[in-house]
Amino acid sequence: MSHGTSESAQPAPFLSLPARHRVAQVPTPIEPLSRWSELVAKRSGHRVDLWIKRDDLTGFALGGNKVRKLEFSFAHALELGADTVLTCGGFDSNHCRATAFLARRLGLVPHLLLRTADGQPVQEWQGNTLLDAIVGAEISWVTPEEYRTGSAMLAAHRARLEAEGRRVCVIPEGASDARGALGFVAAVEELAAQERALESPFDFVVHAVGSGGTSAGLHTGRDALGRPWSVLGVPVCDDGATFAAKVTEIRADLTSEFGLPSEGSGAEGGGAEGDRYLDGYGGRGYGLSSPDELRVYAELARTEGVLVDPCYTGKAFLGLFRSIEAGQFASGARILFWHTGGAFANFSAAAEWQEALSL
Ligand SMILES: Cc1ncc(COP(=O)(O)O)c(C=O)c1O
Repeated sequence: MSHGTSESAQPAPFLSLPARHRVAQVPTPIEPLSRWSELVAKRSGHRVDLWIKRDDLTGFALGGNKVRKLEFSFAHALELGADTVLTCGGFDSNHCRATAFLARRLGLVPHLLLRTADGQPVQEWQGNTLLDAIVGAEISWVTPEEYRTGSAMLAAHRARLEAEGRRVCVIPEGASDARGALGFVAAVEELAAQERALESPFDFVVHAVGSGGTSAGLHTGRDALGRPWSVLGVPVCDDGATFAAKVTEIRADLTSEFGLPSEGSGAEGGGAEGDRYLDGYGGRGYGLSSPDELRVYAELARTEGVLVDPCYTGKAFLGLFRSIEAGQFASGARILFWHTGGAFANFSAAAEWQEALSL
C-alpha cells in the first residue's frame, strides 16, 4: 500500500488562509518509530512503516495540537479588540490550559468554564488545572448539566462578563469551529512539505479525536492539497458516527466561511475513500484509563522514548497498535501517528500510574 513516488520536484502547495497569530514551534519533527514497528512485526507478524509527528513539541505550556487552532482563534480575538477570551472544557482540559497561556501572552484575560462532576472547584490542583491556576485564569466551575447546554452556557457567561464592561471573544470547546480547524488545514501544508523532503508520502494519518476540529482540518487540508493519505480518527469519547457528523458540520463552515473544499470533493482514488474512525478504544470513559492501557503507554516510552497521555494520545496510539496487530493494514503501509500533546494529564493520573507500574 506504500506509494513510494518522489515528490521533491513538485512546487510547494499554497493555500490562501486568514491571518494567524504565529506562536507554535513549527514545523514539528516527523520521526520514525522503527523499534516499535519491529516489535509489532515480531509479535503479530504484521510489518508496517510507522512514523510520528511530534505536536507534543509545539511548545511547553502552549504545547499540543490546540495551539495550532488557537493561532487562528486569537488572531480573530485581536481583530475584534477583545480584552477577555471565554472558553470551556473538562477540568483537566488541555485546550483551556493552552487558551489561558496564550491569552496571558497577548495581554488578554482568560475566563474558563471548567466542568466537574458536581460543579464545585477541584479538590486537588494538578495537571492542567494547576497550570490554569498558576497563569491566573479566571475560572467558573460548571456542572455536567450546565455544560451540556453548550452554546447557551457560553452565551450566558459572555453576557455576564459583558455586563461588567468586558469585550469578550468566545472560543468554543476545543477551538473546534471552522476558524480553529484552519490550524489543521495549515498543518497539512506543513506535512506536505515534510513528505516532499522525505520523498515519499504517507498512506495513513492517525490521530485522537475529542471535539472534531483536528479531524475536520486534516480532512479539508488533505482535499485542498490533493494529498493521498487517509485520515483515521480514534474517538476518545462518544463514537465515530458522532464525530463524522461533527466533522461534516465544521467542514461545511470551512467551505462557506473560508472557501475551502467541501466534503466529498477529494480526488477520485485519493485518500478520502479510506477515511474511517477506529471505534472501541475509549476504554472506561473520557479521562479514565486501565492498568493494561497504561502499561502499553509505558512500553512505548521504554521502547521509543515517547510520552503519550492517558486521555487522548495514549488511546489513539492503542487503537492504532491494536489495529496493526489485527492485520488491518497492508504490509509496509506508511503510517503517520500525529501526536497531539497532552502530557500534563499524566500528572493528574499519578495514582493510576503507581498502581499500573506497581511503584
Ligand atoms: C492532547 C489532545 N489530543 C487530541 C485532542 C483532540 O483534538 P480535537 O478536540 O480537535 O478533536 C485533544 C483535545 O480534545 C487533546 O487535548
